[in-house]
Amino acid sequence: MNAGWEAAADLVVVGSGVAGLTAALDAAELGLRVVVVTKDAVDAGSTRYAQGGIAVVLGDVPGDTVEAHVADTLTAGAGLSDAAAVTEILYDGPAAVARLRARGAVFDSDADGRLARTREGGHSAFRVVPAGGDATGAEVERALLAATTDRRLPLLPGHVAVDALRDERGAVAGLAVLDDAGRPGVLRTPAVLLASGGYGQLYLSTTNPATATGDGLALALRAGAAVADVEFVQFHPTVLYTGPAVGRRPLVTEAVRGEGGLLLDRAGRRFMTGVHPLAELAPRDVVAKAISHTLAATGADCVHLDATAIPDFARRFPTVHAACRAAGIDPGREPIPVTPAAHYACGGVVTDLHGRTSVPGLYAAGEVARTGLHGANRLASNSLLEGLVIGARAARAVAADRNTPRPVAGNCLVPWPAVPLAPRELVQRAMSAAAGIGRDAAGIAAASDRIEAATALGVPAGRAGVEDAALTLLAQAVLAAAGTRTESRGCHVRTDFPERDDRWQRASLELTLDPTGRPVVRTGTAVAA
Ligand code: SIN
Repeated sequence: MNAGWEAAADLVVVGSGVAGLTAALDAAELGLRVVVVTKDAVDAGSTRYAQGGIAVVLGDVPGDTVEAHVADTLTAGAGLSDAAAVTEILYDGPAAVARLRARGAVFDSDADGRLARTREGGHSAFRVVPAGGDATGAEVERALLAATTDRRLPLLPGHVAVDALRDERGAVAGLAVLDDAGRPGVLRTPAVLLASGGYGQLYLSTTNPATATGDGLALALRAGAAVADVEFVQFHPTVLYTGPAVGRRPLVTEAVRGEGGLLLDRAGRRFMTGVHPLAELAPRDVVAKAISHTLAATGADCVHLDATAIPDFARRFPTVHAACRAAGIDPGREPIPVTPAAHYACGGVVTDLHGRTSVPGLYAAGEVARTGLHGANRLASNSLLEGLVIGARAARAVAADRNTPRPVAGNCLVPWPAVPLAPRELVQRAMSAAAGIGRDAAGIAAASDRIEAATALGVPAGRAGVEDAALTLLAQAVLAAAGTRTESRGCHVRTDFPERDDRWQRASLELTLDPTGRPVVRTGTAVAA
């Protein structure tokens, strides 16, 4: 296919959430010509939906330490977090948050004017910094977008990234995109940073916006990069339940439980007390699994979150309050009906701690990447922090790597290959049935067969096609990894292998594409303790 237009940049950032905009701003400050492409509006990604806050130890909470934050993160990660990654990222946190505040982000204060703190599942201290009560992501997105406007950073909304173009050595030489009308274009660049978020849309019910279709992971796989830990799809325990529905569901932040909300079964009984010493504040995988068991045992469609004891709920949690009111529920007076929903991809494109993938010139940061921070289960509110830290580090890596001379790709003929495509809703139904909380070999095999039978080769003609191709590939990858890991660990729950198995301790599953374009699991890679 002939590209309709061409432009050039030192760095093309794909995605305009916390990681992408942080990287873009930092790279511009380092003197790089940066373009940010995003397939939708600039604020349509997952960042603005983050509620709870940023988990960070700033030294002003008596008794809390970065070491304690590291320990909590490793516990949540269930043996698969990389200790070096956890330590480096969390120790970089305070500087990253200071930088964000200098860029204009405003966080909540308590009555004495100190930064407010809340607590979420798996945290041993009140260390999560909120903004706007429960609108942290919206404030982070606002501040970063305002900073990009101030800097006149070029943003290209309405352009979906299709494939990385590579030179004869396999290094990135550009990015092929399609605009909203399906017109192709090429951005010539030696560096592409994927910051395109996760793949919650692989499931029928998710907290993620419509943009979360895993395009960045699929692009990276097609470019030859490895992905890892993709079987660890985190389900948020509490989204507002308003009846069976498809698509993004309103989140009920874990901070509601952090500040006293109690989970009740259909008989009005607390069920978390016998499950974990931290009860409602157990790590997220434990709570989501307990809710699933309770739903299965009672035949109910939802459990309830009683937040009626939280003073002034509407002021403290304005986003949750508004969503409840829109559904006719008054959380100050009655329990909130909740269920789990797909929320966060703990795995992603394998990177080092500077966003570098195994493909020269291809970088990744944020939810699309797998740095080793999250392991088998992400600790709540660690992700905005990771986006800030790795976004900044990736900008510096791109600037440093730029000194390596690269041959300029000569022709502008973009390959635009045919790729496997399955109908989106069929994929979502198959994944929700077989790869949610509770998986087994028979279900995984049946889902694979169903998707396979519905898959045909096609050339994506626009955004929807690129997204469908990504979801098809991601479904194959998640099913392959979930079928291989014959144990239960973190957010990967196998009903036919319900226990943790030490043989899988510290083994992270990496996948790459085989010559036919199918994701295959490579030998488990050891994770540093
Ligand atoms: C929440 O506020 O419960 C979600 C925050 C997160 O996923 O880190």
